[in-house]
Amino acid sequence: MTPQKRILTGDRPTGKYHLGHYVGSIANRLRLQNDYECYFIIADLHTLTTKPNKAEVMGIEQNIRDMIIDQLACGLDPDKVTFYVQSSVKEIYQINLIFEMLVSVARLSRLPSIKDMARAAQIDDDQLPLGLLGYPVLQAADILMPRAHLVPVGKDNEAHVEITREIARRFNFLYGEVFPEPDVLVPDSGTLIGTDGQAKMSKSLNNTILLSDDAKTVDQKVRGMYTDPNRTRADIPGKVEGNPVFIYHDMFNPDVAEVNDLKDRYRTGNVGDVEVKKKLAVAINNFLEPMRERRAIYEAKPNLVDEILAAGNAKTRKIAQETVRMMDEAMGLLYFKN
Ligand code: TRP
Repeated sequence: MTPQKRILTGDRPTGKYHLGHYVGSIANRLRLQNDYECYFIIADLHTLTTKPNKAEVMGIEQNIRDMIIDQLACGLDPDKVTFYVQSSVKEIYQINLIFEMLVSVARLSRLPSIKDMARAAQIDDDQLPLGLLGYPVLQAADILMPRAHLVPVGKDNEAHVEITREIARRFNFLYGEVFPEPDVLVPDSGTLIGTDGQAKMSKSLNNTILLSDDAKTVDQKVRGMYTDPNRTRADIPGKVEGNPVFIYHDMFNPDVAEVNDLKDRYRTGNVGDVEVKKKLAVAINNFLEPMRERRAIYEAKPNLVDEILAAGNAKTRKIAQETVRMMDEAMGLLYFKN
């Protein structure tokens, strides 16, 4: 049996996941967990690159709990995948420092993602933290720490995986073959539109449906969704294309015949928005129901999450120590270490 290839991916601890996260990354994780050895990081140190506040001020611990429970509720299996917290694996700091020698400031400065993050955090050019410039280097340390082969990420992170490949290549060239050059896997589903019709579902835009929303909240949010604004009455022909209500129907309603019937009647002015939305709310609630059942198990036993993370951190540390050892050997950094 050939050993399984490794996957490394994850998120910053920004809080509960929504349908956009599901479509953009969790669905991929669910598919991949059976065929790969998966490591899923909660990248709390990356959060500090724009917000070096105290962790408790930002609610990082609670966010981590919420995100692990969400992923378990989605059906990610802790017997198959390894969840861990970045700051609990100190070897990542060590790997990060070595990688800082292998990439130029100019290369990092040209990345649009750094400028975007600085702008979003209202950081002026002359206040740019060294750590934010090094964001992709730390990400490379995350990815190469378990010597991962595949990195499923959103399009906005593609350039960071490219930097990771460059660092792996450079390390291997200077010191000998230690790291695979990991491939990137970007989902073709694109980003999910928000309930308000804005291009992206996002917590800061307040246009999300959370995986942890209860049925009533989903009903309410769907009732308030943006549709075709020209359609003030049920007998006015409406636009289906680009309409968030129908985009969600296509994604979350498995009853294709029902969806096609609604589209036909919408286009010809033979259905009210209320009916279209009611059926959508039912579909989304059906989609979320199995997650609610699994979530209830974990919420009844809050220690389970702690145990899963403790085991994941310990397992990851072992692999990280192995990697640091391999790096030290390759680099000739073994003197005075024992
Ligand atoms: N940069 C990712 C984000 O946008 C989070 C992240 C940190 C990550 N380290 C990673 C993603 C390693 C994939 C692999 O939130």
